[in-house]
Amino acid sequence: MSAPVNPPVWHSLPNAPEPGTFVAMLEELADGQATLRTLPSCSDAALAKPFSLVLLRAGNEVKAFVNRCAHFGVPLAAKQEQLIFKPLISISCNVHYARYRWSDGVCEYGDCEGESLSPIPLQIAGNGQISIAT
Ligand code: FES
Repeated sequence: MSAPVNPPVWHSLPNAPEPGTFVAMLEELADGQATLRTLPSCSDAALAKPFSLVLLRAGNEVKAFVNRCAHFGVPLAAKQEQLIFKPLISISCNVHYARYRWSDGVCEYGDCEGESLSPIPLQIAGNGQISIAT
């Protein structure tokens, strides 16, 4: 298998939030659940689009990826109820069904096989508050 193709760095994307931005409380995320979140843009523009990410919880660990398919750069899903995932195994794009590994966001099936979702570093405080890593 070839090495994954580097995805866009999350903070280079339009409307990326500032490091330290609050994301969620750990207790709000069900274990084994993929959860869509939108964050306020760091732009002052009132009409700036919010930044969308997917949170994947496994026990006390939470991974975050930009809600952006490596195939066409469109959201994996626009709404929570449209998000396709197998708990702790994979998450899929609902456009052409590329399937990404839960563990590292690498596409293992579909038109962008070998490419990757863009990871976002997180920090989790002792009280369970999750934010973008600083
Ligand atoms: S846009 Fe996601 S698989 Fe094609």
